[in-house]
Amino acid sequence: MTAHTTFIHLTDLHISDPTVTDDHLYSDTSKTLVAILADVKKVEPTPSFIIASGDLTNRGDVGSYEELKRIMREADLGIPVLYALGNHDKRDGFYKSMTDRIEDFSAPYDHAAVIDGIHIVVMDSSHPFKIGGSFEASQFAWLEAELANHPNLPKLLVMHHAPALDANPDLEWEALAIADTEKLRVLLEGRNVIGILSGHIHFDRVSNWHGIPVIVGVGQHAATDVLYLHEGVRMLSGASFAIGTVRLSGLTVSFVPQPSERRELHSFTFADMGELIKRYEEQAALAAAE
Ligand SMILES: [Fe+2]
Repeated sequence: MTAHTTFIHLTDLHISDPTVTDDHLYSDTSKTLVAILADVKKVEPTPSFIIASGDLTNRGDVGSYEELKRIMREADLGIPVLYALGNHDKRDGFYKSMTDRIEDFSAPYDHAAVIDGIHIVVMDSSHPFKIGGSFEASQFAWLEAELANHPNLPKLLVMHHAPALDANPDLEWEALAIADTEKLRVLLEGRNVIGILSGHIHFDRVSNWHGIPVIVGVGQHAATDVLYLHEGVRMLSGASFAIGTVRLSGLTVSFVPQPSERRELHSFTFADMGELIKRYEEQAALAAAE
């Protein structure tokens, strides 16, 4: 590792095919990504890599991934981008558009890379028809093997859903499942993991999780109103990205908010949320029966 390695953390891009009407798209996410990538170009020193920690698209369709590819191509950053999948993504759409994979389109998208002396491990915490996150048993086996690689390098873990911070499932319904969080804790112990980069909850949040910093960003779609969390979810206009710096002393993250008047875009109470979760469960049952 050089003395300093700089990287960019993007999350919750929620890109949408501009030719499709989407009632669940609350802001012009293509415009926001273009603006943020223009800011990324100003970052000094030039970042070594970009992390995009899931909800790359709003619906997971091929057309939306094509729009993402178009924007990234036109930005012409010349920096590797490591993508993770979130609950709004669909593995099938992602693989067909963003990779040259020709089979096994329902497999989780887990991958790893070493860039400028940092071992980056990207896990797919998305679970079809679920809002919260989970891992399959095979993913833990993959992670255990991957963590044994490059034992002398600092490791960054990327996963759309942050680990659960609390053991109460009513409070942690948006996190990685509590049982999976515990398995993850055991696997990561003593592995020199300098940070976990996540998204999903749409607000900037930093936690110390068993000694590991967990960094969550607002992302680029809509900003959760933290002051309303006791009643439900209120989404405000607003977006941000983060600049990460890895030094021998550890990880620093600087948040870069985009200008925002915090206008309300959408809100729902926890009662509405219960209905939404019920609909997802019905869809999951239908999909399982097919
Ligand atoms: Fe999201």
